[in-house]
Amino acid sequence: MTSILILNGPNLNLLGTRQPEVYGATTLADVEAMCRAHDTGFDISFEQSNHEGVLIDLIHAAKGVHAGIILNAGAFTHTSIALMDAIASVELPVVEVHLSNIHAREAFRHKSFIAPVALGQICGFGAQGYLLALDALKGHLSH
Ligand code: DQA
Repeated sequence: MTSILILNGPNLNLLGTRQPEVYGATTLADVEAMCRAHDTGFDISFEQSNHEGVLIDLIHAAKGVHAGIILNAGAFTHTSIALMDAIASVELPVVEVHLSNIHAREAFRHKSFIAPVALGQICGFGAQGYLLALDALKGHLSH
């Protein structure tokens, strides 16, 4: 079975209670359950870390294990050249996800260091974005 990694960055462990007017009431455990219930046929590893280095280590470890990555890098999206380099280094397809529409928010959220090394970006659809990303990755990997 094709294995993929769904990786979540800082503060996403607080989903459900964190600014629900922005991020919704869905918890990260709910997101994980939705992804596992989504009929993609993927074997899913679901991880979250608040630490940039841990996220980088998980991306490195994905090479040779997972066929692709769905990444919500949280605020590191807007700051981390190191995460961008990690993605470029492992040469795995990455779908960038954000619950909120980062382009409709503060100017500092418009910049993504992930986008140039991602297959594409899905944002603004709340938790459903993870399911859209699963479908996008499935379509990409089946070509
Ligand atoms: C986020 C958007 C980021 O700007 C923010 O820092 C987050 C969450 C989102 O899912 O909408 O932590 O990635």
